[in-house]
This record gives sequence, structure tokens and C-alpha cells, in this order.
Amino acid sequence: MKGPYSDKVMDHFMTPRNMGEIADANGVGLVGNPACGDVMKLFLKINDNGVVENVKFKTFGCGAAIASSSMATELIKGKKVEEVMELTNQAIIEALGGLPPTKIHCSVMAEEAIEAALKDYYKNIGKDPKIVDEMKEKLKNKINQ
Ligand code: FES
Repeated sequence: MKGPYSDKVMDHFMTPRNMGEIADANGVGLVGNPACGDVMKLFLKINDNGVVENVKFKTFGCGAAIASSSMATELIKGKKVEEVMELTNQAIIEALGGLPPTKIHCSVMAEEAIEAALKDYYKNIGKDPKIVDEMKEKLKNKINQ
């Protein structure tokens, strides 16, 4: 019998990519979901050219959350911060080959962890973290047009 999860979800759950911590990360995001109690921590190492050189995560949560974080790290590695901001939970779900409706919020947590880590990065380089909110808002308007 085939379960509710795609092969990709199972693969990223069983063999998560980029799990761990980055000691000299310059952007760290910690988010939690009060509904289920799961927590995700994301570490970014962004170089002087604004490129994500390294990314790692630690997720204390359900399988879908682990698979979402693993996939998210793969999607943003090597990308410029501007591109990283464009990553939506929808893109994570698509890359995973879908998630059951009750597990959509797990992918939202991955998007939020990236957002929080980016804000931390901007704070660390002396810029206003609001840049991230503004960029996200602009993108949303573009998508909804
Ligand atoms: Fe909590 Fe998936 S059930 S993140």
C-alpha cells in the first residue's frame, strides 16, 4: 500500500541533506509551530557576494518538517540572498512531489525559518531586517497580480 507521502518526501526524511549546525553562521533562524510544538533551526553562511555558501538545519519535528527543511536547504544552497527570499513553501512542496493537506504547515515552517535566518543575516551586516518583509510583500503582490 502506498502511504500519503511521495518517494521524495520519504527520501529526504530518511536521508536528510545538510543536517547539523554551522559554527560561524552569519544568519540563524529559529521558528516553532505552537500548534504541534515542532521546532526548526536554520543556519546560513552567506559570503561577501551575498551567496549562500553553506546551509544547515536542525529540526525537532515530524517527518514532513524534516523533509521540508532538507529540501529547502538544497533549494537555497549556492543561491543569492535575493533568490532565497523568493522561495515559498509552495516551491518546497512542489520539489518534494507534494505533501498531504494536513502537512502543508510543516513546509511553511521551513519558509519561515529561512526568513528568520535572512533577517538575522541583515541585522548582522548592519542592515534593516525589514528588507526581507518588504521583498516578500513585493513578491506576493507580483504573484497575486
Ligand atoms: Fe509540526 Fe509537521 S506536524 S511541523
